[in-house]
Amino acid sequence: MNILHIDASASDAETSHSRRLSADLVARLTVANPGARVTYRDVAADRLPHVDTTIVQAWMPEVEKDDALMATATRSKELVEELKAADIVVIGSPMYNFTVPSTLKSWIDHVAIAGQTFRYTENGPEGLLTGKGYLALASGGIYSKGPAAGADHLSTYLTTVLGFMGITDVEIVRAEGIAYGPEQDAAAMKDATAQIASLVAS
Ligand SMILES: Cc1cc2nc3c(=O)[nH]c(=O)nc-3n(C[C@H](O)[C@H](O)[C@H](O)COP(=O)(O)O)c2cc1C
Repeated sequence: MNILHIDASASDAETSHSRRLSADLVARLTVANPGARVTYRDVAADRLPHVDTTIVQAWMPEVEKDDALMATATRSKELVEELKAADIVVIGSPMYNFTVPSTLKSWIDHVAIAGQTFRYTENGPEGLLTGKGYLALASGGIYSKGPAAGADHLSTYLTTVLGFMGITDVEIVRAEGIAYGPEQDAAAMKDATAQIASLVAS
C-alpha cells in the first residue's frame, strides 16, 4: 500500500487548515493500513517550475539531452512514477482565487502526461491510473452550498483532473467559511475531522 501525500498551502503546518486535515487523513489511513508507505510532497515548499519550453523539450524522447535537460527529464519521471505507484492519493489544498494554488497547478502540469497517466484512444481520453483519492480542502468562504457554489473551481477541478487520470473514486473533506470568524473556523475543523474519522473507518 503506497500513499502519496501532497500539501499545497502557503501557510505552515500549525496554521494551515488543509495541512492539518490532510495530515489527519494520512495518519488515520496509515493506522487503517499497517505497513503503508507514505511519500510526502510539499509543492508549496519545494516548488516545481511552470511548464516552459525547456520542460516540454525534456519530455520529448527524441530530443538529445545535455545534463540540465536530463535532470529535468529525470525529475518529471520521478513525479509521474511516484503518482503511478500510489494506491491512495491525499491532497491538502487551500482555495486560492476560486481554485488550486499555482504551485499545485504546476504539479498537475508535471504529472498529467499523455501516454503516462492518461492516453487518447479512438473513443476519447482514458485514465491510466487506479486507486483512491482524498481531498482535504480549506476556503475562506462557503462553496459546498449556497450562492457561491458555482464559484467552486477547486473541488470540481481536482476531481476532474484526478478522474481524467483514472482516479474516479474521490472523497472530499472541506473546512469552509474559515474567514467568517473563530467560531465558524473551529466548527468547520471539528466537522471536517469527524468526517475524516468516519470516512477512514468505513
Ligand atoms: C492568495 C489567497 C487567495 C485566496 N482566495 C480565496 C478564494 O478565492 N475564496 C475563498 O473562499 N478563500 C480564499 N482564500 C482564503 C483561503 O482559502 C483560506 O484562508 C484557507 O483557510 C486557506 O487554506 P489553509 O488554511 O490550508 O492555508 C484565499 C487566501 C489566499 C492566501
